[in-house]
Amino acid sequence: MTAPWHPDTLAVRSGRSDLEGLGVHALPIDLSTTNPLPDIERGGDSYEAMAMGGRPPADGSMVYARLWNPTVARFEDALAELEHAEASVAFSSGMAAMTAVILAHGPAAGKSHVVAVRPLYGGTDHLLGSGLLGVQTTYCDPTEVASAIRPDTGLVVVETPANPTLDIADIAAVVAQAGTVPVVVDNTFATPVLQNPIALGAAMSLHSATKYLGGHGDVIAGVVACSEDTAEALRRVRAVTGGLLHPLGAYLLHRGLTTLPVRMRAQQESARRVVEWLLDRPEVAEVFYPGVDGDPQGILGRQMRGTGAMIAMRMRGGYSAASAVVTSTALFTHAVSLGGVDSLIQHPAALTHRPVPADARPDSDVLRLSIGLENADDLIADLAGAFSTLPPAADPMKDRFVDQLQGTESQV
Ligand SMILES: Cc1ncc(COP(=O)(O)O)c(C=O)c1O
Repeated sequence: MTAPWHPDTLAVRSGRSDLEGLGVHALPIDLSTTNPLPDIERGGDSYEAMAMGGRPPADGSMVYARLWNPTVARFEDALAELEHAEASVAFSSGMAAMTAVILAHGPAAGKSHVVAVRPLYGGTDHLLGSGLLGVQTTYCDPTEVASAIRPDTGLVVVETPANPTLDIADIAAVVAQAGTVPVVVDNTFATPVLQNPIALGAAMSLHSATKYLGGHGDVIAGVVACSEDTAEALRRVRAVTGGLLHPLGAYLLHRGLTTLPVRMRAQQESARRVVEWLLDRPEVAEVFYPGVDGDPQGILGRQMRGTGAMIAMRMRGGYSAASAVVTSTALFTHAVSLGGVDSLIQHPAALTHRPVPADARPDSDVLRLSIGLENADDLIADLAGAFSTLPPAADPMKDRFVDQLQGTESQV
């Protein structure tokens, strides 16, 4: 696609330019597990090209769906366009995507060390600390990346906004500190609608596509946007380890992309309403949301085009209040995951961040909210109902913070 289209247009049209020529309107789905071979030589050459991470040769074959699938490749092309990347590679989950990134930049590249900026999604934190993939990890703050880099460092991992407390890292500053070491940014919370890490110098933008990209809570998937060279390295790991995305999942994700900008805008608008309400509530000791405590790094507008639809809150009544709230909401489903059309609430320390070592785990009085497409007044009423089950508290925060939030208008 060549026209300099608005991201809203790209979301609807990317990965579809050949459909008219094919005489179809909806995305075609190819479920083949194996493909006819023209002859032994061209079949063998195709196999070898794709097992090393290449694309199927024009006169060859796709050979086998672990090596290539056109429905998956179509989604990958679309996501790459949205991320302003040369290519993207899709996987069976966000964790399979992160595993491939670590293997490709660690053992497969002759490196044995990763620098990881905390906080991170609990599964990522756990994977990096597990030693399972043959790399050692140094965890650090965003400002400590340069001093954590060693000669054997193959990768820097950063997530921003981070799960669950929406910590913001300055991507360009992390990239500058990393020097020649490639940086992968987990862009799951922001999505390409709000943030494009590659345009800020990151080598890779990774998504748990399970979340906003799919948007409907019915696909588990991961995807990494990157250069074509990096895509080859990642496709090689995918072909060898088999962490591939099923074409039906790719179809749903590609369809999900069409409404991504509209969903993000609507969910963000409701999230901002919920944040303003929470800041006025005595039951809440702290609200975690971009812009709530100002924008000291000048991220909003420069790095992010909006503040998103994820919120975390610290309950003044501690763990017992958090525990009461998650079981008292009616609209918010008490469940892990995020980024779908329906609102979810969960306790990170007990669930998504359970495997994180205690000194880096979120506090036990913190809850995470994923704001969906329900009416904002209904969501607020639902939280008010849950809060009404708690003992009375005092001292709302609104006077301290809400003016700053109002100064951070969204650009999407
Ligand atoms: C920020 C982030 N990255 C990665 C993952 C892992 O993705 P998946 O569950 O699709 O494997 C998650 C899952 O919650 C996440 O929240």
